[in-house]
Amino acid sequence: MKTFTNILLFTFTTFVMSDNEKIFAAEIEKKIAFSEFKEDLNKTYENKKEEKVAFTNFKETFEVVQKHNEDFNRGNTSFTMQINKNADESEDFFMARLNFDLETDVMDARADDDYPIVPKCNKQFLNYSMDGFVNNIKNQGRCGACYAFAVAGACEGAFYKKYKKLYKIAEQQLVDCTKSNEYGNRGCVGGKISASYGYLSHWKAMNESEYPYKARDNGTCLYNETVAISKITNYIKLTNVNETYLKDLLCVYGPLTVGIDASAKTFQYYSSGVYYDEECGTTINHAVLLIGFGTDPEFGPYWLLKNSYGKNWGERGYIRISRGKGNVCAFLNQITACII
Ligand SMILES: *[C@@H]1O[C@H](CO)[C@@H](O)[C@H](O)[C@H]1NC(C)=O
Ligand SMILES: *[C@@H]1O[C@H](CO)[C@@H](O)[C@H](O)[C@H]1NC(C)=O
Ligand SMILES: *[C@@H]1O[C@H](CO)[C@@H](O)[C@H](O)[C@H]1NC(C)=O
Ligand SMILES: *[C@@H]1O[C@H](CO)[C@@H](O)[C@H](O)[C@H]1NC(C)=O
Ligand SMILES: *[C@@H]1O[C@H](CO)[C@@H](O)[C@H](O)[C@H]1NC(C)=O
Ligand SMILES: *[C@@H]1O[C@H](CO)[C@@H](O)[C@H](O)[C@H]1NC(C)=O
Ligand SMILES: *[C@@H]1O[C@H](CO)[C@@H](O)[C@H](O)[C@H]1NC(C)=O
Repeated sequence: MKTFTNILLFTFTTFVMSDNEKIFAAEIEKKIAFSEFKEDLNKTYENKKEEKVAFTNFKETFEVVQKHNEDFNRGNTSFTMQINKNADESEDFFMARLNFDLETDVMDARADDDYPIVPKCNKQFLNYSMDGFVNNIKNQGRCGACYAFAVAGACEGAFYKKYKKLYKIAEQQLVDCTKSNEYGNRGCVGGKISASYGYLSHWKAMNESEYPYKARDNGTCLYNETVAISKITNYIKLTNVNETYLKDLLCVYGPLTVGIDASAKTFQYYSSGVYYDEECGTTINHAVLLIGFGTDPEFGPYWLLKNSYGKNWGERGYIRISRGKGNVCAFLNQITACII
C-alpha cells in the first residue's frame, strides 16, 4: 500500500517531491532500467544473492552514465555513454579484461635519433577502414588478450599495405603460442606487444579461420606451418610521441598499436562522440589500433581507434579520441608499427 501511494506521488506531484520521494523515484527508475537490461540481454542469475550484487553494480553504472549524459545534453562534454552488457559486472570483470603487463612494455626511453624520419602528412582525414586495411570489429571477450588483437590488427594492415590482401590473423595463435615460453606472455591474463611481434618475426602468422579465437588460453600452441601465412620482418616501437609526429607515422606505416589507460568508466561505457576525460589515469592497461583521424563538425579533431570489445561497444566498435588536447589516458606513450 505504501508503495502504491508513493507511486501515485511520483506520478502526480513530481514538481513538489521531497528528498525522500526523489530518492524513491530514482530507485524505481533504476529498478525499471535493470528489468529492461535483464530482458534485453537475456540475463539470468544463479540466485537472489547474485542478482542483488548485479543490481548494485548496475545501479552504480547507471548513475554514472545518466549523470554523464545529462552533462552531454547541457553541452558540457563531447561524448555520450551507454549502459552495455557489462553494466552488472563488478570491478573484477574489468580488471580481468585489462592487461597490466603492458605497463612495463615498450617503456624503454629511446634516443631522439631512433625516431624514424618520416615525410610530413598533410591529410586532413584518414580512415584506413575505408581503404581496406582493417578487418571487422572483433571481441576479445572475458580475456585480457588485447595485445593479440592490437598486434594482429597492425600486422593485418601492414600485410595489406604490402600485398593488397586483407588477411585475418589468428589472435588465438598469439595467445597460445606466446604463453609461458621465451616470449613470456600470460595468455588471457595479459601479454606484451613487443613479445607478440617477436613471436611473429620467428613464426608465421596463421589465418584466423585455421585457428579460431576461443577467449580463453588453452596453453597448447597449435601452430601448423602448412596453413600459415607469413612472418613479419620487424616492428617499430616508440614512446611518448607528439601528435604531429603520430599523424606522420600513421600515414607512412598504416594502422598502429596504441597503449591506453582504459580503466575509467567513461571509457568502458563510451558510446559516441569524441572521447576526452582529463581525469583518466596514465597506467597503460589496454591496447587498441589507431586507424585514422579527422575533425568532427561539432566536437572537433579526433583520432579514430579500433577497439576489440565487439560491435556493440562505442561507435560500432570504434572510438574517436580527442586530438590536439594532449595525452588523453596516456595514449601517446606507447606506439608500435608492424613492419612486413
Ligand atoms: C534468450 O534466451 C532464450 C532461452 O535461452 C533463447 O532462446 C534466446 O535466443 C535468447 N535471446 C537472445 C537475444 O539472446
Ligand atoms: C563540466 O564538466 C567538467 C568535467 O567534465 C566539470 O569539472 C565541470 O564542473 C562541469 N561544468 C558544469 C557546468 O557542469
Ligand atoms: C571509417 O570507415 C568505416 C568503414 O567504412 C566506417 O564504418 C566508419 O564509420 C568510418 N569512421 C569514420 C570516423 O570515418
Ligand atoms: C587444448 O587444445 C588441445 C588440442 O586441440 C585439445 O586437445 C584440448 O582439449 C584443448 N584444451 C582446452 C582446455 O580447450
Ligand atoms: C596442418 O594443416 C593441414 C591442412 O589443413 C592438415 O592436413 C594437417 O594435418 C595439419 N597438421 C597438424 C599438425 O595439425
Ligand atoms: C588465409 O586466408 C586467405 C583469405 O583470407 C586465403 O586467401 C589464404 O589462402 C589463406 N591462407 C592459408 C595458408 O590458409
Ligand atoms: C615531434 O616529434 C618529432 C619526432 O621526435 C620531432 O622531430 C618534432 O620536433 C616534434 N615536434 C614537436 C612540435 O614537438
